[in-house]
Amino acid sequence: RLLMIRHYNLFSLRGAGHCGRVFRKVFCATPEGQAPPRHPRWMGVEPQNTPQPSSASTGLLEAAYQRITAAWVSSAQQLGCMDVHVLGEGDVDTEVLDPAHAVLKLNSGHTIPVVGLGVYLCEPGAQAYEAVLSALRLGYRHIDTAQVYGNESDVGRAVRDSGIPRKDIFVTSKLSIRNWGKSRAQAAIDESLKKLGLDYIDLFLLHAPGSLDTRAETWAVLESYHRQGKLRSIGVSNFGVVHLEKLAQTAQVTPAVNQIELHPFLQWPRLVQYCQSKDIIVEAYSPLAKGQKLDDPTVKQLAQKLNVTPAQLLIRWGIQKGFVSLPKSTVPARQEVNLNVFSITIPDDDMATLDGLEADFVTGWDPIRDAPV
Ligand code: A2P
Repeated sequence: RLLMIRHYNLFSLRGAGHCGRVFRKVFCATPEGQAPPRHPRWMGVEPQNTPQPSSASTGLLEAAYQRITAAWVSSAQQLGCMDVHVLGEGDVDTEVLDPAHAVLKLNSGHTIPVVGLGVYLCEPGAQAYEAVLSALRLGYRHIDTAQVYGNESDVGRAVRDSGIPRKDIFVTSKLSIRNWGKSRAQAAIDESLKKLGLDYIDLFLLHAPGSLDTRAETWAVLESYHRQGKLRSIGVSNFGVVHLEKLAQTAQVTPAVNQIELHPFLQWPRLVQYCQSKDIIVEAYSPLAKGQKLDDPTVKQLAQKLNVTPAQLLIRWGIQKGFVSLPKSTVPARQEVNLNVFSITIPDDDMATLDGLEADFVTGWDPIRDAPV
């Protein structure tokens, strides 16, 4: 997980403490002769001080990269890394191995880390606080909460106590459908900001389609907070195509995301295709089907074949589809496993096998079908 070089980008980790942990897990990302998946939306954040391709001639860049690479290798060795693979230009050219730098670009211009910790069903208080703190220590930089989870204040406290700069953490919350309508929505967003203890929320969603009567007016409130900079990006959750089409009739801002239950057993192909055609990032909640499909024979067999866990296989499937994935776990060891998906490649034929598992399997409520308009 240490180091990769692609044509012009070097991806590193911020902070020496963090480096020590990751450097000890170095291995080559791509089996020989096998190209990693290419998704046009993959991008990396340039580490500071890395020269931009346009700012120097190729020769100068090459020299700069060799210097930086040598410095990284030596610091990795000092940190106890026994096995450093330096991948040459062209060996690997797409994958980002550092979760903090694995991001997608939203239509708002901001970036979103592709794996986030879902804190749905994390009990308010110590459990939610500990879960978020441990995730941040493990390298997560994206936490997904909601007003109805009742744990926004615990999320905010953990974010502050982590000591990680605010700008490096991506926080999502969602407006409960109890707070639909202009004045209620305004009060509820103010309350979320207060509970989280943040000046701005990175991404704020309508939690479900709710009532058509007040949906447009409620979305307009999100737009106004977005214009003020208090909600950096805004989006929706549990919206079907019909809801997105209706919203588009009045919206001034296109939702940046649509967060839906999504895994190989529930794929929403038409909805996903619609979102992607409108530049709306699809976020997968319950990517593990709430743990109910980890024993599925096909999942188990493929996981074994690829030498990964069933949970990693399901998360990675979503990432290779271009989704943001939001696995929930309160157990640090599982959180670590769930984040460690950036060196996995599911080959095309195995992706096709997973695609074949569609079963319209909804693990909880089905707000998309529950709200017909
Ligand atoms: P726990 O919080 O005890 O780890 P989803 O993200 O699809 O909603 O799934 C969440 C469920 O899956 C929770 O019950 C969670 O339990 C469990 N879970 C999360 N990660 C793993 C994992 N790596 N292996 C097994 N179960 C997991």
